[in-house]
Amino acid sequence: MEFVCIADFEKKAQTVLEKKALDYYRSGAGDQYTLNRTRDAFRKLRIRPRFLRNVSKLNTATTILGCQVKWPVGIAPTAMQRMAHPDGEIANARAAGLAGSVFILSTLSTTSIEELAKGAPNTDKWFQLYVYKDRSLTESLVRRAEKANFKALVLTIDAPLFGQRRSDIRNKFGLPPHLQLGNFSEAETQDVKSSGKGSGINEYVMSQFDPELTWKDVEWLVKISKLPVIVKGVLTHEDAVLAREFGCKGIIVSNHGARQLDSVPASIEALPEIVRAVGNDLVVMMDGGIMEGNDVLKALALGAKMVFIGRAALWGLACGGQKGVEDLLAILKKDFEVAMSLSGCVDLESIRPNLIVHESHYSKL
Ligand SMILES: Cc1cc2nc3c(=O)[nH]c(=O)nc-3n(C[C@H](O)[C@H](O)[C@H](O)COP(=O)(O)O)c2cc1C
Repeated sequence: MEFVCIADFEKKAQTVLEKKALDYYRSGAGDQYTLNRTRDAFRKLRIRPRFLRNVSKLNTATTILGCQVKWPVGIAPTAMQRMAHPDGEIANARAAGLAGSVFILSTLSTTSIEELAKGAPNTDKWFQLYVYKDRSLTESLVRRAEKANFKALVLTIDAPLFGQRRSDIRNKFGLPPHLQLGNFSEAETQDVKSSGKGSGINEYVMSQFDPELTWKDVEWLVKISKLPVIVKGVLTHEDAVLAREFGCKGIIVSNHGARQLDSVPASIEALPEIVRAVGNDLVVMMDGGIMEGNDVLKALALGAKMVFIGRAALWGLACGGQKGVEDLLAILKKDFEVAMSLSGCVDLESIRPNLIVHESHYSKL
């Protein structure tokens, strides 16, 4: 099968992955209202292209929180990547590095912080942190990431517990017996596997993650680590302002791939109010539903400095390990460059808000 776009990888991945893993990767929360409308939210934004601007040379490079990237598309943290391919997180991170971008490792990875540092030494890596009831365990994850030369901490704030993902409950989803959560011992992660009652991952999260988390804990994290703290999961300008107040350096506008609370907005819909509130002070980034170069262009035009792909990278991994993700990123990069050229943007600075209008603009005419 020839891969021409990300949807091709997704189609093929559906034939390769075990049902339980596929359902875990692709599903959203509840009735999947938000998940099913995410693509639509992008499509409702129209591009106003400008011409005659000499687009023979493009510059897609930028610096994000000290990391030089060749283009502003990185890989979002997704749990348990070895279910997609035996090389899991290492393959994904190597592909991100070769494409000149950033890889974010999930706390719930099937590769440890140290293994990843060794396996993908040339990739800029950020560590996604979940806060455990056991704060010394949480702090030890931070210290391990610092020691392994990770460049930022990405604190996910939208998961005091996990959303109700119906297929995981029906499937009694659990981590396959041959795999392990890399950052923890076998004994610490038994719940993830034994899922007699419902979703094993949800049981694990309920028993381990701290639902008492508040902005005071963000302050604590900013204080104990020298790494920049990025909060992931912000969907309102109110929380964006608090992120600034409590010392964060960046925000990832995200609805967690529509896997937490159904009926929240698509990230691309929430992005403008957050950029308006804190875009001059914090590095605002986003993830959620990116499938095409156009989507990247639209997110940048609305003020994101960088975007991340979650599921798309898992489809690449499932189709061909590291090479699969490399090919997928090359296709997305080419698509983004075509979108820049055909809309008259030669560099990231020239991707401005007036490039985009909502479709309602045209119905008013
Ligand atoms: C299978 C899967 C696992 C995920 N695991 C995590 C995780 O461990 N930590 C986290 O902060 N976000 C996690 N996310 C959310 C992603 O980081 C990201 O927000 C989302 O996938 C972006 O949307 P996209 O998949 O449409 O690109 C996960 C998403 C998926 C699909």
